[in-house]
Amino acid sequence: MENGAAQPPVIVAIDGPSGTGKSSTSKAVAARLGLRYLDTGAQYRAITWWMVSNGIDVADPAAVAAAAGKPEIVSGVDPADPTIEVDGVDVAGPIRTQDVTSKVSAVSAVPEVRTRITELQRSIAAGAEGGIVVEGRDIGTTVLPDADLKVFLTASAEARAARRSGELKGADVDATRAALIKRDAADSGRRTSPLAKAGDAIEVDTTELTLQQVIECVITLVEEKRAGK
Ligand code: DC
Repeated sequence: MENGAAQPPVIVAIDGPSGTGKSSTSKAVAARLGLRYLDTGAQYRAITWWMVSNGIDVADPAAVAAAAGKPEIVSGVDPADPTIEVDGVDVAGPIRTQDVTSKVSAVSAVPEVRTRITELQRSIAAGAEGGIVVEGRDIGTTVLPDADLKVFLTASAEARAARRSGELKGADVDATRAALIKRDAADSGRRTSPLAKAGDAIEVDTTELTLQQVIECVITLVEEKRAGK
């Protein structure tokens, strides 16, 4: 850009299953390029945490649908300090528990939940000065189909399980792999906006790549887009 003029805002959608390095990659890309960052999985986890905390039976889609409009979810979009609050409570820790992780697919499959969270995501993206990196499962297909760049991260089930067990500080790899495959199958098989690669998304297989290599790859893709290549 000439004379240091600001770059036009750019919207980057990064989708893929768990354990592909989506969060670490998205945060690092946003930080390097001066963009905002939105973790949409955290929003689905937050609404799940609220349902569990308020005694809603998450196995009952009608009960979940009836309560979907109640919690107020606020996401902080600074990649250096992404925050998540429900009704004014910081839930960054509680949303990562095994209990929430095992229930989030059921809650996020309910159409009323998806409509509510999708609206929130679109308003955050529209208000993000300078642009934003949004990570999730249905960002390129449903939430932001007009994103400037869509990336779909993949990795073998073995690599994903190994990474997740590392994050969970040495959790059993076989059990992690089984839980991960079950959650991905639920997220890919649901009727409303399943985990899917958009037709115009660029697929990056991260199995053999380091996190740094994935970050550099996505930054190059954003820069190429901006240069009009
Ligand atoms: O990225 P994560 O593991 O924190 O996501 C938690 C769950 O949220 C995931 O299993 C499915 C759901 N999710 C979704 O349905 N759509 C998104 N855009 C992001 C996450």
